[in-house]
Amino acid sequence: MKKFFIVANWKSNKASGEINSWFQEISNLIRHDQISNIQRREIVICPSFPYLQLVHELIQKNQLSFKIGAQNISPFREGSYTGEVNTKQIKDLVKYVIVGHSERRNMFGEDNETINRKINQTIAAGLIPILCISDLSQIKDHIITVKSSKFAIAYEPLFAIGSGKADTPGNANKIATEIKKELGDIPVLYGGSVTSQNIKDFTSMESIDGALVGGSSLDPEEFSKIVEYA
Ligand code: PGA
Repeated sequence: MKKFFIVANWKSNKASGEINSWFQEISNLIRHDQISNIQRREIVICPSFPYLQLVHELIQKNQLSFKIGAQNISPFREGSYTGEVNTKQIKDLVKYVIVGHSERRNMFGEDNETINRKINQTIAAGLIPILCISDLSQIKDHIITVKSSKFAIAYEPLFAIGSGKADTPGNANKIATEIKKELGDIPVLYGGSVTSQNIKDFTSMESIDGALVGGSSLDPEEFSKIVEYA
């Protein structure tokens, strides 16, 4: 049976108090065995940079098997790049890095060259990029050199992000199938208005290996249901 990736993208939400409460609640849910199939999930929590360490500590303290992802990364190594966080600074804390999210492309002007630099930095540090694309044509814009589980793609159509209107599972599966045709059998996630109500519709599709979850990951109860139903 395949292992599903459930990636929580908290975006610019949650400070330490809320993060502590989130973990307390999710740990209780897990302890009460409400997430029975947790072994078959790669659960990745992506908080803002200042809280990577806190999330790491809370995962340890609560003996959870969650992994950590960064939402962004510097396109450069360490050096004179004011405001940037580079891979060396976080590689002991994270396994994954989200790269090329449409909010970064559209609101922060990230172009393909910058995104490719970020992919390179991520891979060079031994971390796994989760490259976000909003349509198939974007695949060819990016350097995707590493096969299998060392690279993941998240297909996130623009209209579906934060809108409450997800893509159809059939269309998402069609795109995921095309991605695998191009790149081999790498994990392909669907993202955009995923909830506990629709997660199963996506993960029951042959080519979809999980979900990148924004808004619905902020509430621990809803997120635990997504994990359970995936
Ligand atoms: P959403 O966001 O689940 O809130 O639609 C997904 C994303 O932007 O990754």
